[in-house]
Amino acid sequence: MSTATSSKKQKMHIDPIERAWMRAAVVVLVIFAIAVTIAGFMLGIQVPTEEQRVNPQTLQDAPPWSEPGVREIVAGEEYSVYIVAKRFFYEPAKVEVPVGAEVTFYVSSIDVQHGFKIQGTNVNFMVIPGEVSKLTTTFDKAGTYDYICTEYCGLGHAVMFGSVTVTP
Ligand code: CUA
Repeated sequence: MSTATSSKKQKMHIDPIERAWMRAAVVVLVIFAIAVTIAGFMLGIQVPTEEQRVNPQTLQDAPPWSEPGVREIVAGEEYSVYIVAKRFFYEPAKVEVPVGAEVTFYVSSIDVQHGFKIQGTNVNFMVIPGEVSKLTTTFDKAGTYDYICTEYCGLGHAVMFGSVTVTP
């Protein structure tokens, strides 16, 4: 008997309960893959990405970081917002964008790790010195949305906030 035929005839013994768990694991993986695909391509939900590496010591020496704030790309439609996080405030502390526009936030820190969460939206990411965090969102309703620091960064952490005014 050749080894090929013997291995064909031999069946690996898998306990029925273990087999059921293996099937369940595959089913869960498939569900997650479908959920991620729907979230990313149909609902437009993105995870914040590291846009680029920067030197936190010299970040504010040159544009756009020397003058952070709102940049109009296409009037009423597309905006970039540059925000510098530092102990214990954001620069600028107030930004204004129109309702319905595509707004891309670029946030970086010049000292320690901070957070950036816009209340009432799903914008929420870490701000790490040496990196630029980027996330695009659209505000569907006019109003004021506060952004707050969500990573403990020192004694002034609790007073580190700003606001986005969304105009009609
Ligand atoms: Cu900045 Cu907490």
